[in-house]
Amino acid sequence: MPSIKKRRLLSSDPEPLPGASEDRPKILFFGDPHGDFEPVLEAVKCQQPDAIILLGDLQARRPLHLELAPILDKTAVWFVHGNHDTDSDEDFDNVFHSELADRNLDGEVQTIAGYRVAGLGGVFRDKVWNPAMPLEQAAFASDRAMASHARGGRSGIEVDLKSTWRGGILRKHHSSIFPDVYQRLCTLRADILVTHEAPAAHAHGFTAIDELANRLGATLVVHGHHHESINYLEAGLITVDSPFLVHGVDKGDFLAWPPKAPE
Ligand SMILES: [Fe+2]
Repeated sequence: MPSIKKRRLLSSDPEPLPGASEDRPKILFFGDPHGDFEPVLEAVKCQQPDAIILLGDLQARRPLHLELAPILDKTAVWFVHGNHDTDSDEDFDNVFHSELADRNLDGEVQTIAGYRVAGLGGVFRDKVWNPAMPLEQAAFASDRAMASHARGGRSGIEVDLKSTWRGGILRKHHSSIFPDVYQRLCTLRADILVTHEAPAAHAHGFTAIDELANRLGATLVVHGHHHESINYLEAGLITVDSPFLVHGVDKGDFLAWPPKAPE
């Protein structure tokens, strides 16, 4: 059994809940639920974390606050959205219009269990911004710019109904990464960056995620999307010289943080 780490990491760490074990994790990061929240409910009951962060592709079959109702008084719930959270109107509404909608970390930094956590939800799409290109060359700088274009620009005429959804941008692009959100995050500071997309060390990752982590000063990046639980350092994908650790988390799996000290 690994040794039990009793020390508190930061002076700002919250006191343990009454009856909670002192070696319980502060945060559990969950891979893409894709509609199955049983692993989340079970892990929270067993691990008693201060907070959980879902890494996108929630695809809640009911409003998210109903899916997670059994644990809402046991832990703080946070998430970023994934590309599949805009697959259907139900997928969208059950996340973006649930009573937990304000727990979406996308474009924000929040203090969670004593850590400053930044979130970037969604995926890069070339029709918005291919991050291999400079930000200035993005097709659209913001969702507002895309909505204006879809509505026919300043004239407001020649509305292309195939380019709009509920009077705004297409549903799909509510899970696209827009440059203005990325740029705003780059001005902030955080200890941890949670994303749906992976950083460059992943075969399908993006250097833009690494650049964001560096701008934030983050020392840990945790992502979903690829359905793989990977400790990038142990897998040899990054070296000890990397300014930040990286973990991918699989569907149905979780990463407990901080990790327990080795035996
Ligand atoms: Fe995904």
